[in-house]
Amino acid sequence: MTAYRTFEVASALGDYAVSVHPSLLTSAEAARPYLAELAGDYVVVADSRIAELCSDSPWFADKSKVIPFVATEATKTLDGVQELYRAFTDLKVRRSTTVVVVGGGVTQDTAGFACQTFLRGLKWWHLPTTLLAQADSSIGAKICLNFSTSKNILGLFGRADRVLIDPQAVGSLPRNQRASGCAELLKVFVMRGADAFTAYAADLDALLDAESDACTRQITAGLLVKKGYIEEDEFDRGKRQLLNYGHEFGHALEATTHFQVPHGLAVAIGISFANRLSQHRGRASADFVAPVDEVVYRLVRDLPTPQVRWADLLHHLGQDKKKQVGKYLTVVVAHGFGDLEKLTDVTPGEAAEVAAGLDRIDLSA
Ligand SMILES: NC(=O)c1ccc[n+]([C@@H]2O[C@H](COP(=O)([O-])OP(=O)(O)OC[C@H]3O[C@@H](n4cnc5c(N)ncnc54)[C@H](O)[C@@H]3O)[C@@H](O)[C@H]2O)c1
Repeated sequence: MTAYRTFEVASALGDYAVSVHPSLLTSAEAARPYLAELAGDYVVVADSRIAELCSDSPWFADKSKVIPFVATEATKTLDGVQELYRAFTDLKVRRSTTVVVVGGGVTQDTAGFACQTFLRGLKWWHLPTTLLAQADSSIGAKICLNFSTSKNILGLFGRADRVLIDPQAVGSLPRNQRASGCAELLKVFVMRGADAFTAYAADLDALLDAESDACTRQITAGLLVKKGYIEEDEFDRGKRQLLNYGHEFGHALEATTHFQVPHGLAVAIGISFANRLSQHRGRASADFVAPVDEVVYRLVRDLPTPQVRWADLLHHLGQDKKKQVGKYLTVVVAHGFGDLEKLTDVTPGEAAEVAAGLDRIDLSA
């Protein structure tokens, strides 16, 4: 078994430790030192699926402390937050109480919001259980809620006081959820450089099979890349915006398909789009675009080809939170490994031409 490691993330909101420690969700021995730190003064908000799948977990040993949470985009709302406020009140949560949040990005966002606002801020730990949350969302201090028909439109900056990652937890995820997390890793490794990409591509089958050593290695490596960006620009005013690579098109594809395409897989297709946009401008070479496309293909292989109308996709592309005001679209592109640029002068016509060349989506609907 790969040895576990802990690293610190520097944050204006208070530095926090991230530990990647296989089996800490299920093994009493692995969990013991962390639970000892809490000295009994904690409650657990648990994704109800995990609470069921891992009912023997040492984190759920005291059932009276466990608050099950049904994690869906419909509960990642103020209603979901209120449900947690009620549970905190019933369990007599105090300022000294730590909330342990066990689940993926939906549970993290909803419980994180509740923790940041209840009693003007509770301490909270996050034990992410999806590959996406382990490899990406668990660090970076962003917390978002859905409101009305808009996704992620409410939010705040707030970070978990501690992140505890058990890479073995992703073993029970369906394959497309694991592929979704792999796409966020693809993003950061293209950003890091050719060597990181090659090491990741070599581990891809093992990641998709949830092999513990490969997950431990690549999750840790991916988080260390993200750490570099968020420590330099935690509040998303400059360099961190490059992490939006693949996301403008990805978000538009998610919205157009009413979230039938999982987030990460939409981002994977968005990465192809961004690379081809650079190639269309004569910057990215086929030597870069082709191997990344090959990985995208391996990730989205089992996804039915989404059928979308270009007009709908363009509408959502223009609505991205980070769009440029005016007639141009903003797209972060990669010209090569480790060579990213935020373009703010993409015309709808140019975007349409590039999108028409993608064989991962069907624009004839
Ligand atoms: N705050 C951020 O920085 C940030 C970043 C990226 C994404 N997000 C948000 O994260 C959400 C997506 O989160 P996600 O992809 O982690 O998934 P999720 O939390 O939506 O969970 C997906 C499904 O998997 C189940 N599940 C969770 N862990 C499991 C496991 N180990 N085994 C079996 N089933 C499991 C859940 O019950 C749920 O049904 C989106 O709402 C997105 O907006 C937030």
